[in-house]
Amino acid sequence: MRGVVISRGLLAGLVTLLSLDVLPCLAVDGQISPLVLEELLLWVSGGAGQVNTYRIPLLTFTKRGSLLAFSEARKGSEQDTGAKFIALRRSTDKGATWGPTAFIVDDGSLADGLNLGSVVIDEEKGSVLLIYSICFHRYHCSPSSTMMVYSMDDGLSWSAPRNLSVMLGVKSFAPGPGFGIQKRYPPAVGRLVVCGHGSIAGDGVFCILSDDHGVTWKYGAALKSIPFNQPKQALDFNPDECQPVEMEDGSIVINVRNQYNYHCHCRIVVRSLDGGESLPLEELFFDHTLVDPAVAAGALQKEGILFFTNPANDKQRVNLTLRWSLTNGQSWEKDSVQIWAGPSGYSSMTSLKSDSPEDKKFIYVIYEKGHKDYDESISFVKVHLYGGR
Ligand SMILES: *[C@@H]1O[C@H](CO)[C@@H](O)[C@H](O)[C@H]1NC(C)=O
Ligand SMILES: *[C@@H]1O[C@H](CO)[C@@H](O)[C@H](O)[C@H]1NC(C)=O
Repeated sequence: MRGVVISRGLLAGLVTLLSLDVLPCLAVDGQISPLVLEELLLWVSGGAGQVNTYRIPLLTFTKRGSLLAFSEARKGSEQDTGAKFIALRRSTDKGATWGPTAFIVDDGSLADGLNLGSVVIDEEKGSVLLIYSICFHRYHCSPSSTMMVYSMDDGLSWSAPRNLSVMLGVKSFAPGPGFGIQKRYPPAVGRLVVCGHGSIAGDGVFCILSDDHGVTWKYGAALKSIPFNQPKQALDFNPDECQPVEMEDGSIVINVRNQYNYHCHCRIVVRSLDGGESLPLEELFFDHTLVDPAVAAGALQKEGILFFTNPANDKQRVNLTLRWSLTNGQSWEKDSVQIWAGPSGYSSMTSLKSDSPEDKKFIYVIYEKGHKDYDESISFVKVHLYGGR
Protein backbone atom coordinates (compact mmCIF):
# COMPACT_ATOMS: atom_id res chain seq x y z
CA MET A 1 0.00 0.00 0.00
CA ARG A 2 2.33 2.66 -1.31
CA GLY A 3 1.57 6.23 -0.45
CA VAL A 4 0.00 5.57 2.91
CA VAL A 5 1.48 7.91 5.46
CA ILE A 6 2.30 6.22 8.69
CA SER A 7 2.52 8.67 11.53
CA ARG A 8 5.61 8.60 13.73
CA GLY A 9 3.43 7.71 16.66
CA LEU A 10 2.01 4.66 14.95
CA LEU A 11 5.48 3.63 13.84
CA ALA A 12 6.81 3.88 17.37
CA GLY A 13 3.87 1.78 18.54
CA LEU A 14 4.64 -0.87 15.96
CA VAL A 15 8.30 -0.97 16.96
CA THR A 16 7.35 -1.42 20.61
CA LEU A 17 5.00 -4.26 19.72
CA LEU A 18 7.68 -5.84 17.58
CA SER A 19 10.35 -5.76 20.25
CA LEU A 20 7.97 -7.20 22.83
CA ASP A 21 7.26 -9.93 20.35
CA VAL A 22 10.88 -10.58 19.54
CA LEU A 23 12.16 -10.91 23.12
CA PRO A 24 10.65 -14.31 23.91
CA CYS A 25 11.99 -15.67 20.59
CA LEU A 26 15.51 -14.61 21.50
CA ALA A 27 14.97 -16.23 24.87
CA VAL A 28 14.04 -19.50 23.23
CA ASP A 29 17.21 -19.22 21.15
CA GLY A 30 19.04 -19.24 24.45
CA GLN A 31 20.27 -15.67 24.14
CA ILE A 32 20.09 -15.09 27.81
CA SER A 33 21.41 -12.13 29.73
CA PRO A 34 21.49 -12.96 33.43
CA LEU A 35 20.96 -10.27 36.04
CA VAL A 36 21.26 -10.59 39.82
CA LEU A 37 17.77 -9.61 41.00
CA GLU A 38 17.99 -10.21 44.75
CA GLU A 39 20.72 -11.07 47.21
CA LEU A 40 20.30 -12.02 50.85
CA LEU A 41 22.74 -13.24 53.53
CA LEU A 42 21.36 -16.47 55.03
CA TRP A 43 24.09 -17.04 57.62
CA VAL A 44 26.82 -14.85 59.09
CA SER A 45 29.86 -16.44 60.76
CA GLY A 46 31.43 -15.34 64.03
CA GLY A 47 28.11 -14.16 65.31
CA ALA A 48 25.74 -15.29 67.98
CA GLY A 49 25.06 -18.65 69.56
CA GLN A 50 26.88 -21.93 69.37
CA VAL A 51 28.35 -21.48 65.89
CA ASN A 52 31.80 -20.18 64.97
CA THR A 53 31.64 -20.49 61.17
CA TYR A 54 29.08 -21.39 58.53
CA ARG A 55 30.46 -23.09 55.44
CA ILE A 56 29.63 -25.51 52.59
CA PRO A 57 26.26 -24.20 51.33
CA LEU A 58 23.79 -26.47 49.48
CA LEU A 59 20.56 -25.37 47.81
CA THR A 60 17.60 -27.26 46.40
CA PHE A 61 13.96 -26.96 45.50
CA THR A 62 11.69 -29.64 46.92
CA LYS A 63 9.12 -31.32 44.72
CA ARG A 64 6.46 -29.01 46.20
CA GLY A 65 8.50 -25.93 45.29
CA SER A 66 10.00 -24.96 48.64
CA LEU A 67 13.61 -23.81 48.70
CA LEU A 68 15.91 -25.51 51.19
CA ALA A 69 19.34 -24.07 52.05
CA PHE A 70 21.76 -26.19 54.09
CA SER A 71 25.19 -25.46 55.54
CA GLU A 72 27.73 -26.82 57.98
CA ALA A 73 27.47 -24.88 61.24
CA ARG A 74 30.97 -25.37 62.66
CA LYS A 75 30.83 -25.12 66.44
CA GLY A 76 34.37 -24.39 67.64
CA SER A 77 36.45 -23.11 64.73
CA GLU A 78 36.51 -22.60 60.98
CA GLN A 79 38.30 -25.95 60.47
CA ASP A 80 36.99 -28.81 58.32
CA THR A 81 37.37 -31.22 61.26
CA GLY A 82 35.64 -30.58 64.62
CA ALA A 83 32.03 -30.80 65.79
CA LYS A 84 29.17 -29.33 63.78
CA PHE A 85 25.47 -29.00 63.22
CA ILE A 86 23.75 -29.24 59.87
CA ALA A 87 21.88 -25.94 59.55
CA LEU A 88 18.73 -25.61 57.43
CA ARG A 89 16.63 -22.61 56.38
CA ARG A 90 13.47 -22.98 54.35
CA SER A 91 11.60 -20.62 52.04
CA THR A 92 8.10 -21.22 50.69
CA ASP A 93 8.07 -18.12 48.45
CA LYS A 94 11.03 -18.89 46.17
CA GLY A 95 13.57 -17.13 48.34
CA ALA A 96 11.78 -13.84 49.12
CA THR A 97 11.51 -14.71 52.83
CA TRP A 98 13.14 -17.45 54.90
CA GLY A 99 12.23 -19.29 58.09
CA PRO A 100 14.63 -19.40 61.06
CA THR A 101 17.64 -21.72 61.18
CA ALA A 102 16.93 -25.28 62.31
CA PHE A 103 19.76 -27.59 63.35
CA ILE A 104 18.65 -30.87 61.81
CA VAL A 105 21.74 -32.94 62.76
CA ASP A 106 24.04 -32.48 65.78
CA ASP A 107 27.25 -34.54 65.90
CA GLY A 108 27.96 -33.70 69.56
CA SER A 109 31.62 -33.03 70.30
CA LEU A 110 33.43 -35.17 67.72
CA ALA A 111 37.07 -34.30 66.93
CA ASP A 112 36.33 -35.03 63.24
CA GLY A 113 32.61 -34.46 62.90
CA LEU A 114 30.23 -34.32 59.98
CA ASN A 115 30.94 -32.87 56.53
CA LEU A 116 28.37 -31.94 53.85
CA GLY A 117 27.25 -33.32 51.63
CA SER A 118 24.81 -33.86 48.78
CA VAL A 119 21.10 -33.17 48.78
CA VAL A 120 18.97 -35.31 46.45
CA ILE A 121 15.30 -34.91 45.58
CA ASP A 122 13.43 -38.10 44.76
CA GLU A 123 10.74 -36.74 42.42
CA GLU A 124 8.84 -40.04 42.43
CA LYS A 125 8.54 -40.26 46.23
CA GLY A 126 8.68 -36.52 46.97
CA SER A 127 11.42 -37.16 49.53
CA VAL A 128 14.50 -35.06 50.33
CA LEU A 129 17.67 -37.05 51.06
CA LEU A 130 20.78 -35.50 52.59
CA ILE A 131 23.99 -37.51 52.49
CA TYR A 132 27.08 -36.53 54.48
CA SER A 133 30.17 -38.03 56.05
CA ILE A 134 31.45 -38.45 59.59
CA CYS A 135 35.16 -38.81 60.42
CA PHE A 136 36.09 -38.17 56.79
CA HIS A 137 39.68 -37.14 57.69
CA ARG A 138 40.17 -39.95 60.26
CA TYR A 139 41.43 -37.31 62.68
CA HIS A 140 41.37 -38.92 66.15
CA CYS A 141 38.69 -41.32 64.93
CA SER A 142 38.09 -44.41 62.84
CA PRO A 143 36.43 -45.55 60.66
CA SER A 144 34.81 -43.02 58.31
CA SER A 145 31.05 -43.36 57.85
CA THR A 146 28.71 -42.26 55.08
CA MET A 147 25.45 -41.08 56.66
CA MET A 148 21.97 -40.07 55.45
CA VAL A 149 18.98 -38.22 56.88
CA TYR A 150 15.76 -37.76 54.94
CA SER A 151 12.53 -35.78 55.06
CA MET A 152 9.13 -36.92 53.78
CA ASP A 153 7.36 -33.62 54.60
CA ASP A 154 9.06 -30.99 52.45
CA GLY A 155 12.00 -30.45 54.83
CA LEU A 156 9.97 -29.71 57.98
CA SER A 157 11.00 -32.81 59.93
CA TRP A 158 13.95 -35.15 59.47
CA SER A 159 14.68 -38.81 60.14
CA ALA A 160 17.33 -40.03 62.56
CA PRO A 161 20.72 -40.52 60.83
CA ARG A 162 21.09 -43.79 58.89
CA ASN A 163 24.55 -45.32 58.52
CA LEU A 164 25.05 -46.16 54.82
CA SER A 165 28.52 -47.58 55.54
CA VAL A 166 26.81 -50.75 56.72
CA MET A 167 26.14 -51.30 52.95
CA LEU A 168 28.94 -49.26 51.36
CA GLY A 169 31.83 -50.06 53.65
CA VAL A 170 33.88 -47.59 55.64
CA LYS A 171 35.88 -45.89 52.88
CA SER A 172 36.25 -42.12 53.35
CA PHE A 173 33.62 -40.63 51.05
CA ALA A 174 32.68 -36.95 51.09
CA PRO A 175 29.59 -36.44 48.90
CA GLY A 176 29.45 -33.36 46.63
CA PRO A 177 29.33 -30.81 47.98
CA GLY A 178 26.23 -29.84 46.02
CA PHE A 179 23.30 -31.90 44.82
CA GLY A 180 22.90 -35.50 43.77
CA ILE A 181 20.63 -36.32 40.85
CA GLN A 182 17.71 -38.57 40.08
CA LYS A 183 18.01 -39.80 36.49
CA ARG A 184 15.22 -38.36 34.31
CA TYR A 185 16.41 -39.71 30.94
CA PRO A 186 17.57 -43.25 30.01
CA PRO A 187 19.65 -45.12 30.97
CA ALA A 188 18.62 -45.95 34.55
CA VAL A 189 15.58 -43.64 34.87
CA GLY A 190 14.73 -43.05 38.53
CA ARG A 191 18.20 -43.95 39.83
CA LEU A 192 19.71 -41.72 42.51
CA VAL A 193 23.32 -40.78 41.74
CA VAL A 194 25.51 -39.06 44.35
CA CYS A 195 29.15 -38.31 43.51
CA GLY A 196 31.93 -37.20 45.82
CA HIS A 197 35.56 -37.77 46.62
CA GLY A 198 37.70 -39.89 48.92
CA SER A 199 40.64 -39.05 51.18
CA ILE A 200 44.25 -40.32 50.88
CA ALA A 201 43.44 -44.01 51.27
CA GLY A 202 41.43 -44.03 48.05
CA ASP A 203 41.27 -40.51 46.67
CA GLY A 204 39.50 -39.67 43.44
CA VAL A 205 35.89 -39.18 42.37
CA PHE A 206 33.36 -41.89 43.23
CA CYS A 207 29.61 -42.17 42.77
CA ILE A 208 27.16 -44.08 44.90
CA LEU A 209 23.92 -45.32 43.34
CA SER A 210 20.48 -46.29 44.59
CA ASP A 211 17.82 -47.94 42.42
CA ASP A 212 15.23 -48.17 45.21
CA HIS A 213 14.71 -44.52 46.25
CA GLY A 214 17.59 -44.45 48.73
CA VAL A 215 16.86 -47.62 50.70
CA THR A 216 19.96 -49.48 49.48
CA TRP A 217 23.15 -48.04 48.02
CA LYS A 218 26.16 -49.42 46.16
CA TYR A 219 29.35 -47.97 44.70
CA GLY A 220 29.24 -47.14 41.00
CA ALA A 221 31.72 -45.13 38.93
CA ALA A 222 35.29 -44.35 40.00
CA LEU A 223 37.83 -41.89 38.62
CA LYS A 224 40.94 -42.71 40.60
CA SER A 225 43.80 -40.36 41.47
CA ILE A 226 47.41 -40.95 40.34
CA PRO A 227 49.37 -42.19 42.24
CA PHE A 228 46.41 -43.95 43.83
CA ASN A 229 46.32 -44.47 47.58
CA GLN A 230 49.62 -42.64 48.06
CA PRO A 231 50.56 -39.15 49.27
CA LYS A 232 50.33 -36.55 46.51
CA GLN A 233 52.62 -33.76 45.41
CA ALA A 234 52.00 -30.62 43.36
CA LEU A 235 50.72 -31.30 39.82
CA ASP A 236 49.58 -34.88 40.56
CA PHE A 237 46.21 -35.98 39.22
CA ASN A 238 43.78 -35.72 42.10
CA PRO A 239 40.11 -35.29 41.18
CA ASP A 240 38.34 -33.95 44.26
CA GLU A 241 35.03 -32.28 45.15
CA CYS A 242 32.52 -32.49 42.33
CA GLN A 243 29.05 -31.65 40.99
CA PRO A 244 27.21 -34.08 38.68
CA VAL A 245 24.51 -32.83 36.30
CA GLU A 246 22.31 -34.88 34.00
CA MET A 247 22.31 -33.74 30.37
CA GLU A 248 19.26 -34.08 28.11
CA ASP A 249 20.87 -37.06 26.31
CA GLY A 250 20.90 -38.97 29.61
CA SER A 251 24.66 -38.73 30.16
CA ILE A 252 25.96 -37.45 33.48
CA VAL A 253 28.57 -34.69 33.27
CA ILE A 254 30.64 -34.25 36.44
CA ASN A 255 32.47 -30.98 36.97
CA VAL A 256 35.44 -31.68 39.25
CA ARG A 257 37.90 -29.75 41.43
CA ASN A 258 41.45 -30.27 40.16
CA GLN A 259 43.13 -30.38 43.56
CA TYR A 260 46.81 -30.28 42.56
CA ASN A 261 46.41 -28.37 39.28
CA TYR A 262 47.23 -31.32 37.06
CA HIS A 263 47.58 -30.05 33.46
CA CYS A 264 46.03 -26.63 34.25
CA HIS A 265 44.60 -24.33 36.89
CA CYS A 266 41.18 -25.29 35.60
CA ARG A 267 38.30 -27.72 36.00
CA ILE A 268 38.31 -31.42 35.19
CA VAL A 269 35.17 -32.53 33.35
CA VAL A 270 34.26 -36.20 33.03
CA ARG A 271 31.17 -37.91 31.68
CA SER A 272 29.33 -41.11 32.47
CA LEU A 273 27.30 -42.71 29.66
CA ASP A 274 25.90 -45.58 31.72
CA GLY A 275 24.00 -43.90 34.55
CA GLY A 276 26.97 -43.43 36.87
CA GLU A 277 28.46 -46.92 36.69
CA SER A 278 31.69 -45.85 34.97
CA LEU A 279 33.74 -42.74 34.17
CA PRO A 280 35.86 -43.68 31.13
CA LEU A 281 39.10 -41.71 30.57
CA GLU A 282 37.99 -41.19 26.95
CA GLU A 283 35.21 -39.00 28.36
CA LEU A 284 37.54 -36.77 30.39
CA PHE A 285 38.81 -33.33 29.43
CA PHE A 286 40.25 -30.22 31.04
CA ASP A 287 38.12 -27.12 30.57
CA HIS A 288 40.67 -24.32 30.12
CA THR A 289 37.92 -21.67 30.05
CA LEU A 290 36.86 -22.62 33.56
CA VAL A 291 39.91 -21.21 35.36
CA ASP A 292 39.78 -22.30 38.99
CA PRO A 293 41.79 -21.96 42.23
CA ALA A 294 40.86 -25.56 43.36
CA VAL A 295 37.49 -25.18 45.03
CA ALA A 296 34.01 -26.72 45.08
CA ALA A 297 32.03 -25.15 42.22
CA GLY A 298 28.39 -25.07 41.10
CA ALA A 299 26.93 -26.58 37.93
CA LEU A 300 23.33 -26.76 36.71
CA GLN A 301 21.58 -27.87 33.54
CA LYS A 302 18.31 -26.04 32.81
CA GLU A 303 16.33 -26.22 29.57
CA GLY A 304 19.40 -27.24 27.57
CA ILE A 305 21.66 -24.52 28.99
CA LEU A 306 24.56 -25.46 31.23
CA PHE A 307 25.45 -23.01 34.02
CA PHE A 308 28.64 -22.85 36.07
CA THR A 309 29.68 -20.82 39.12
CA ASN A 310 33.10 -20.54 40.78
CA PRO A 311 35.60 -17.99 42.03
CA ALA A 312 37.03 -17.43 38.53
CA ASN A 313 40.67 -16.85 39.40
CA ASP A 314 43.61 -19.23 38.98
CA LYS A 315 45.06 -18.73 42.47
CA GLN A 316 42.71 -17.05 44.90
CA ARG A 317 39.14 -17.61 45.98
CA VAL A 318 37.80 -14.28 44.68
CA ASN A 319 35.53 -13.18 41.80
CA LEU A 320 32.43 -15.39 42.10
CA THR A 321 31.34 -15.65 38.47
CA LEU A 322 28.37 -17.14 36.63
CA ARG A 323 29.00 -18.60 33.18
CA TRP A 324 26.71 -20.36 30.73
CA SER A 325 27.09 -22.70 27.79
CA LEU A 326 24.71 -23.26 24.88
CA THR A 327 26.77 -26.25 23.66
CA ASN A 328 26.53 -28.61 26.64
CA GLY A 329 29.82 -27.32 28.02
CA GLN A 330 31.87 -27.65 24.81
CA SER A 331 32.20 -23.86 24.77
CA TRP A 332 31.14 -21.01 27.05
CA GLU A 333 29.53 -17.73 26.08
CA LYS A 334 31.92 -14.77 26.08
CA ASP A 335 29.73 -12.82 28.48
CA SER A 336 29.77 -13.74 32.14
CA VAL A 337 28.23 -12.21 35.26
CA GLN A 338 30.39 -11.29 38.21
CA ILE A 339 28.27 -11.99 41.28
CA TRP A 340 30.88 -10.83 43.80
CA ALA A 341 34.35 -9.39 43.11
CA GLY A 342 35.71 -10.05 46.59
CA PRO A 343 36.52 -13.22 48.55
CA SER A 344 34.17 -16.02 47.54
CA GLY A 345 34.41 -19.78 47.97
CA TYR A 346 32.09 -22.74 47.52
CA SER A 347 28.93 -22.32 45.48
CA SER A 348 25.91 -24.36 44.44
CA MET A 349 22.89 -23.74 42.18
CA THR A 350 19.31 -24.86 41.76
CA SER A 351 16.19 -24.04 39.77
CA LEU A 352 12.56 -25.06 39.86
CA LYS A 353 11.57 -27.64 37.27
CA SER A 354 8.12 -26.54 36.21
CA ASP A 355 6.00 -25.82 33.16
CA SER A 356 5.28 -22.26 34.24
CA PRO A 357 7.00 -19.67 32.01
CA GLU A 358 7.77 -17.67 35.15
CA ASP A 359 9.85 -20.49 36.69
CA LYS A 360 11.85 -20.87 33.50
CA LYS A 361 13.26 -17.36 33.98
CA PHE A 362 15.19 -17.92 37.21
CA ILE A 363 18.13 -19.77 38.64
CA TYR A 364 19.28 -19.53 42.25
CA VAL A 365 22.84 -19.48 43.59
CA ILE A 366 24.18 -19.94 47.11
CA TYR A 367 27.82 -19.16 47.88
CA GLU A 368 30.43 -18.35 50.49
CA LYS A 369 31.02 -14.60 50.57
CA GLY A 370 33.21 -12.20 52.52
CA HIS A 371 35.11 -8.93 52.53
CA LYS A 372 38.41 -10.21 53.99
CA ASP A 373 37.79 -13.97 53.97
CA TYR A 374 35.34 -16.01 51.97
CA ASP A 375 33.99 -17.80 55.07
CA GLU A 376 32.40 -14.68 56.61
CA SER A 377 28.89 -15.40 55.37
CA ILE A 378 26.67 -17.51 53.14
CA SER A 379 24.71 -15.59 50.56
CA PHE A 380 21.65 -16.45 48.47
CA VAL A 381 21.19 -14.94 45.02
CA LYS A 382 18.18 -14.95 42.69
CA VAL A 383 19.20 -14.57 39.03
CA HIS A 384 16.81 -13.46 36.27
CA LEU A 385 18.06 -15.15 33.12
CA TYR A 386 16.54 -12.55 30.77
CA GLY A 387 16.82 -9.56 33.08
CA GLY A 388 19.99 -7.94 31.82
CA ARG A 389 18.44 -6.09 28.90
C1 LIG B 1 28.66 -47.29 60.43
O1 LIG B 1 28.78 -48.64 60.05
C2 LIG B 1 30.11 -49.11 59.97
C3 LIG B 1 30.09 -50.50 59.36
O2 LIG B 1 29.27 -51.33 60.10
C4 LIG B 1 30.73 -49.03 61.34
O3 LIG B 1 32.07 -49.51 61.30
C5 LIG B 1 30.72 -47.58 61.80
O4 LIG B 1 31.24 -47.46 63.12
C6 LIG B 1 29.31 -47.05 61.81
N1 LIG B 1 29.34 -45.62 62.05
C7 LIG B 1 28.55 -44.99 62.92
C8 LIG B 1 28.71 -43.52 63.06
O5 LIG B 1 27.74 -45.60 63.62
C1 LIG C 1 36.93 -12.55 37.06
O1 LIG C 1 36.36 -13.43 36.12
C2 LIG C 1 36.28 -12.92 34.80
C3 LIG C 1 35.55 -13.95 33.96
O2 LIG C 1 36.26 -15.14 33.91
C4 LIG C 1 37.67 -12.61 34.28
O3 LIG C 1 37.57 -12.03 33.00
C5 LIG C 1 38.39 -11.68 35.24
O4 LIG C 1 39.72 -11.50 34.83
C6 LIG C 1 38.34 -12.23 36.65
N1 LIG C 1 38.94 -11.29 37.58
C7 LIG C 1 39.72 -11.68 38.58
C8 LIG C 1 40.26 -10.59 39.47
O5 LIG C 1 39.99 -12.83 38.83
